[in-house]
Amino acid sequence: MNMIQQLTRHKTVEQLQAEAGSRGEFRRVLGVWQLTAIGIGAIIGVGIFVLAGQQAAVNAGPAVIVSFIVAGIGSACAALAYAEFSGMIPVTGSAYTYGYAVLGEFFAWVIGWDLILEYALIVAVVAIGWSGYVQALLLQLFGVHLPVWLQGAYDPANPDSGKVFDVVAAAISLVIAWMLIIKTEWGARVNTVIVVIKVIGVLLVIVVGAFYVNPANWHPFVPAAIEVDGVSRFGWAGVLAASSIVFFACFGYDTLTTAAEEARNPQRDLPRAVLLSLAISMTLYIAVSLVLTGMVPYPQLNSAAPVDAAFKALGLDWVRGIINVAAVAGLTSVLFAFMLGAARIWFALSRDGLLPGWFARVHPRHGTPHRPTAILGIFSALVAGFLPIGEVAELVNIGTLSAFIVICLSVLILRVRRPDVRRSFRSPMLWLVAPVGMLFSLFLIIGWPWLTDGQFHMIGGLARITIERFVVWMAIGLVVYFAYGIRHSLLARRD
Ligand code: ALA
Repeated sequence: MNMIQQLTRHKTVEQLQAEAGSRGEFRRVLGVWQLTAIGIGAIIGVGIFVLAGQQAAVNAGPAVIVSFIVAGIGSACAALAYAEFSGMIPVTGSAYTYGYAVLGEFFAWVIGWDLILEYALIVAVVAIGWSGYVQALLLQLFGVHLPVWLQGAYDPANPDSGKVFDVVAAAISLVIAWMLIIKTEWGARVNTVIVVIKVIGVLLVIVVGAFYVNPANWHPFVPAAIEVDGVSRFGWAGVLAASSIVFFACFGYDTLTTAAEEARNPQRDLPRAVLLSLAISMTLYIAVSLVLTGMVPYPQLNSAAPVDAAFKALGLDWVRGIINVAAVAGLTSVLFAFMLGAARIWFALSRDGLLPGWFARVHPRHGTPHRPTAILGIFSALVAGFLPIGEVAELVNIGTLSAFIVICLSVLILRVRRPDVRRSFRSPMLWLVAPVGMLFSLFLIIGWPWLTDGQFHMIGGLARITIERFVVWMAIGLVVYFAYGIRHSLLARRD
């Protein structure tokens, strides 16, 4: 077998469908609304509770709503691709599994390796957001302040803050990992209740906030570009830079596939739930962004808990309490979804022989993949404790955007290569949707070509350091694959 054949050996769609059918470990109980709740459970989180306000304050002003629309278009195209896949291959494992079916082992490994880092870092980002809201609640209810050095990570952009380590964020990462190891069931029913609380919290922000909107706060809609400490902010470049960060709010439906094997009618309901959960979340985001930037002048939203800050500024203490509780509960569902997702992907890579089988051995008493979960918990805790939220969110986004590019490409390739496979959902206008999804994802990473004075410049995009860090992580992944996976994978041993 030559190198190309080795790298592209793949599982067929039929093999994956059979694997899903044969395992039968789960009861098929979930309908479309419960699946949608799982999607919303993972989508609505830090993106709206924290990043929207912060980005309005430092990059986009009221035009953060445009940032959401730009990020949402990219995500919606990828959602259509996910929907088509999930109806065709209703198997847990998300993009990693789809990659195995279409592009072969090497790309599956690349996506799997990418997703492990990304999911673990999502846990870190959400833990930092969770910490912001828990600290706001502690202060509001009990007047308790943590010592300044334990309130948050050291941030080079704000070196005199006195902050060193985010102890609450680190602690919640460890607690979630521990709960998943001892098999705390975060069942669909608990999830649905939490999601209802979270959505009520968001609706409350919109409905109550709407009464306090002062349209003068929406002017200027796109604040003029300025330079702060050598970094350019605001203007259209700022709006596009913000879209690369608030993109964090626009994904999470990919975790739906973790429930594929518990769905009553996965082929019909998974695609619907993917699209419904994103559509509902995007509608809420646009409304929240409008309301928040209308309630207070946007610079006031630069806080660890911006929604709380807006209501506090207007003296609406009763609403603050409810919203903060809803935010903490809602962020917890995101933490569970992604920690579970990260451990499952690591587990799947190990079970397929791409990483040592030692990681795939489940706990003798609890029956959970305890080794990956514990390592991920410690990793997320360290990141959440020591790094500022914006930097980690950027790193997550580059990982997700790369996975989106591969997914959009894969769904197109499969249309050509396997037109015969039954698709319970066919994305409309895929020949337009998939390329637009790929282009938007690419531009959200590297910036947008922009015509000024007859010349193209790149504006927006992620920070250079983020792209470098990502390249280093992927390079380590290549070394691991060529040193280990290529010879030990199940498919390698089969050949
Ligand atoms: N979309 C999820 C959030 O905003 C990851 O927290």
